[in-house]
Amino acid sequence: MDGNGRWAKERGLPRREGHRAGAESVREITHTCIDLGVEFLTLYAFSSENWNRPPAEVSALMNLLDRFLSEKSKDLDQQNIRLLAIGQLDRLPRKTRGLLDKLIDRTSHHSALTLVLALSYGGREEIVEAARSLAANAAAGTLAPEEIDTALFASRLQTAGIPDPDLLIRTSGEMRISNFLLWQISYAEIVIIKKFWPDFRRNDLTEAVQEYQRRHRRFGTL
Ligand code: IPE
Ligand code: MG
Repeated sequence: MDGNGRWAKERGLPRREGHRAGAESVREITHTCIDLGVEFLTLYAFSSENWNRPPAEVSALMNLLDRFLSEKSKDLDQQNIRLLAIGQLDRLPRKTRGLLDKLIDRTSHHSALTLVLALSYGGREEIVEAARSLAANAAAGTLAPEEIDTALFASRLQTAGIPDPDLLIRTSGEMRISNFLLWQISYAEIVIIKKFWPDFRRNDLTEAVQEYQRRHRRFGTL
């Protein structure tokens, strides 16, 4: 979800107004996913690197997240949405972490859409964590190195149980992955949208899905 800051700047507004408008897009896009029959939506809401932004912006983003988590509760129930989160969640402020855990627990039985929030998330960090857990097992003698294969490795990632994305959408016209789901996007179809995230709405997602449907996926075969 890129471009909140530039969206605000274009309008002479503070960056936090861009993030607020971006939260509206999140609402609309989750609803559109349900209407389109999309079963998993992962939103890159805050990266490991985003901690390096000025403290005022980090706290504005955390406040927005708190608000989202407090207000979204009813909506998640009504829309039958299950919430999950990936990332280094222990780096989140205690209040945010509490709200998040509560909502994940409360929505665990919902089944229309799984909304995965990537928070304090970094693909490299996630891969390192998985490698470390396998190494710990090997060092303890409970795992032989030759038993490590792609399936076992994937089962140690935070996305264990979540299918790999079919479609990766990046807004703002940026042609970068920026440390997002590095392992999981091996065969994802990539769609780059010129619009800033707050302008990315129902029709834009529908068009991105139509673009995806026109692609021929070969997974390395002919
Ligand atoms: C939102 O867009 C993404 C978040 C980190 C929440 P940006 O804040 O990256 O906006 P730009 O890229 O500066 O326009
Ligand atoms: Mg950006």
